[in-house]
Amino acid sequence: MAAHALGHHLALTGFMGAGKSTFGAQVARRLGRGFVDLDREIETRAGATIEELFARDGEAGFRALEEKVAASVFDASEPAVIALGGGAVLSAETRDRLRRRAFTVLLDVDPGTAWERASRSARPLAADEDAFHALFQERRPVYEETADARARDIDGIVLAAAGIDVRTGAIDLLGELVPGSGPIAIVADATVAGIHGVAVQLALGSRDVATHEVPAGEAAKAIGVLDHLWRSLRIGRDGTIVALGGGCTTDLAGFAAATWMRGVPWAAVPTTLVGQVDAAIGGKTAVDLPGGKNLVGAFHWPARVVIDPGTLETLPESEMKNGMAEVVKTGLLMGSPVWEQPLAELVRRCASFKAAVCLADPYDRGPRNQLNLGHTFAHALEAAAGYDLSHGRAVALGLVAALRLSGNDVALAAVRSELDPKPVRVDRGAAWAALARDKKSIGGVPRLVLLEKTGEPTWGNEVPAADVRVALDSLICD
Ligand SMILES: NC(=O)c1ccc[n+]([C@@H]2O[C@H](COP(=O)([O-])OP(=O)(O)OC[C@H]3O[C@@H](n4cnc5c(N)ncnc54)[C@H](O)[C@@H]3O)[C@@H](O)[C@H]2O)c1
Ligand SMILES: [Zn+2]
Repeated sequence: MAAHALGHHLALTGFMGAGKSTFGAQVARRLGRGFVDLDREIETRAGATIEELFARDGEAGFRALEEKVAASVFDASEPAVIALGGGAVLSAETRDRLRRRAFTVLLDVDPGTAWERASRSARPLAADEDAFHALFQERRPVYEETADARARDIDGIVLAAAGIDVRTGAIDLLGELVPGSGPIAIVADATVAGIHGVAVQLALGSRDVATHEVPAGEAAKAIGVLDHLWRSLRIGRDGTIVALGGGCTTDLAGFAAATWMRGVPWAAVPTTLVGQVDAAIGGKTAVDLPGGKNLVGAFHWPARVVIDPGTLETLPESEMKNGMAEVVKTGLLMGSPVWEQPLAELVRRCASFKAAVCLADPYDRGPRNQLNLGHTFAHALEAAAGYDLSHGRAVALGLVAALRLSGNDVALAAVRSELDPKPVRVDRGAAWAALARDKKSIGGVPRLVLLEKTGEPTWGNEVPAADVRVALDSLICD
């Protein structure tokens, strides 16, 4: 059974009228994948409508054809989003294929809504309301047995596809949510272990659990800390590493999981806003070297990300501000003022946005670049400040520069009112030198993410060096 849809087909199951076709097409667009609506595929191949096929061959004939078409669709190697007809999972062979070749999400719908939608269309099995409800009850256990996850809307499908659970109180459900049955190594700093350690231990109940304490903040992302962690790990390949804390803890523990015994599964339980909307999502893990941040790392997708917005209650205001800079960045990329949403909803929507971008481009070769909006400038300022500058403040300033170069005054106004960025006092020459060393530069010329239209980022933009320099200088005060 797959833990997420990375590298697998994403199959949508559920009753008639659950929205599999409508949501499926939209999810496929967000994930940059092909979309197959199994019923339409059957009609195309048979040259007849479902209604005609039912009338001509009876339900048994139709199911045999459905099974054949499903087999060829699921055997295609390019991961796609596949919406299954409501009865497709009645076939044992199709269920077996789903287990082997797909991550399957059950689209939940209540029977009343399903009837309302299905009865409007000419579906052979939606002619009589009582029969429809009886069928709903009969099929429910089959759907539940086949599903790897459940969802009700598009964000929910994307989150499930990425292996992410977002719900207040989720931390108390870790026993069910952390995959596997082998031993667990929890990695946390003293602050987070102090706040959540007992609840997590309780939730993991009967599992064999050891806790490994690491330093708080960026100090955790050091080779020395990693070396110490490696030496203290006692889990085998059946074990799971659970990273509990902010982005520094998840980056370190994720990298430990990527390298321990050539890779063991890990679960991220982010407890900072940065962690919940950004760092714990997408499988980038790393530690720092004296020469730079994140210089040694690996792509290692977490088997599960458990996001409990309730854990943010104890987060200091300064850390919330860091996170809000990423939230505003995300809202501008998605083209929606997501920062106006209540905290739990904002976390869910931002997490879903990042998850979709990373599922579409897990190894950072294209669209994932957009997540760097404002960050080329932010990293330059942080380096020039000797990293004595909060990431949130640096990103807020970086957004100002990127949006100025994009000529996007509306987005600029949003950044100013939400984040109130104030220029920093750093050495201008040092900031410029750091910018030229940016990882995304080619031959010393930075490639920038621009946002001429909110919600429509472009990346890999070559901007004249003089303009970039002016934009950078405007972020610095003397
Ligand atoms: N891998 C990625 O894709 C990615 C993306 C963005 C950022 N990052 C990395 O994330 C790191 C920053 O992470 P961060 O901003 O989460 O900071 P952090 O991990 O340093 O945590 C900040 C502080 O908050 C404390 N804390 C955490 N949760 C708390 C809670 N619930 N209540 C009270 N205190 C709590 C921690 O003890 C720590 O001192 C950077 O190293 C950055 O490079 C990685
Ligand atoms: Zn950032």
